[in-house]
Amino acid sequence: MKIPMVDLKGQYLSLKSEIDAALLDALAETRFILGPNVQAFEAEAAEYLGVDHAISCANGTEALHLALLAAGIGPGDEVITPAFTFIATAEAIRYVGATPVFVDIQPDTFNIDPAAIEAAITHRTRAILPVHLFGQPADMDEIAALAETRGLLVIEDCAQSFGSRYRGKPTGGIGSCAAFSFFPSKNLGCYGDGGMVTTDDDEIAARVRMLRNHGSSQQYYHDVIGFNSRLDELQAVILRIKLKHIDDYNARRREVAETYNRLLAGGALQTPVIRDDRDHVFHQYTVLADDRDALRERILAREVACAIYYPVPLHRQKAFADTAQPELPVTEATARRCLSLPIYPELTEQQIETVGAAVLAG
Ligand SMILES: Cc1ncc(COP(=O)(O)O)c(C=O)c1O
Repeated sequence: MKIPMVDLKGQYLSLKSEIDAALLDALAETRFILGPNVQAFEAEAAEYLGVDHAISCANGTEALHLALLAAGIGPGDEVITPAFTFIATAEAIRYVGATPVFVDIQPDTFNIDPAAIEAAITHRTRAILPVHLFGQPADMDEIAALAETRGLLVIEDCAQSFGSRYRGKPTGGIGSCAAFSFFPSKNLGCYGDGGMVTTDDDEIAARVRMLRNHGSSQQYYHDVIGFNSRLDELQAVILRIKLKHIDDYNARRREVAETYNRLLAGGALQTPVIRDDRDHVFHQYTVLADDRDALRERILAREVACAIYYPVPLHRQKAFADTAQPELPVTEATARRCLSLPIYPELTEQQIETVGAAVLAG
């Protein structure tokens, strides 16, 4: 039985009649740019996340870019962020002319280490950009306390964490503002690119709204140089339908992860650690293995997919060759040992067992 990392078809088929009908309605409506579905999705997402403003945009990278710009981060500023993340997190810091300062992660959750943040703060630091990696919220109380005492902004990268909660509060509503991605494979994914900024700050919200639409809040009047970074109306149709199911999807991901944890317990692998005070939404299920590369080959040979997120941490990427190259021992060890297994709500019990057997047979 071939098992892919993600199966978008299964989810589409389960929603097909609703999605097809809603797409046809939107086509008939022909209000394709910032149309009624974009507006409704923004209201529904804001309600779900418990934030005052949700402003959709073209993709998650743009959401980070717009959030940083709207928060006033620019040249000369330093932004503290993990090196163990997708490149978009730090690309966006560069887009606004600021400098990413890469710090180490915790060995068990893979999330940014608050003690490392504190040690990296300088007089140039303006913001902390934690990533809720693989769907588990970072240590937001510790991060918020540091930000408060040192006068810093917190900008959350929620690309992988839609629906996760930290001490009961949804990620995306904890920092000054937050960025989401709706890339198709994300927990809440559309059928193309999509993104969103969330915030309770009226001024940041107004700036993001303007920036995503050519610097304009009134048609053909442009207050600043902005961007064409709008969410597509047809993608909003998909997201509105899937948003109704996100809690079920995330609950099923947790069930899959619990089964994996049980199947793999007691072996040589380190299985994911979930902190008691937060809900992990398992965008990825990632284990650590000393013989990771050999294990990966053995799993793939059984036609079970697995993937390395991320093989090269950002401070070791050529793109950041001109950035400080600190020693980040936990990050580097994790990049050498991490392996992600297939996880999506539609995985059957039989498929989960097949994956478990492929891992253990190694
Ligand atoms: C942690 C993280 N940040 C940002 C992004 C960028 O999102 P997008 O691909 O929608 O631009 C992604 C995903 O691709 C991501 O995983």
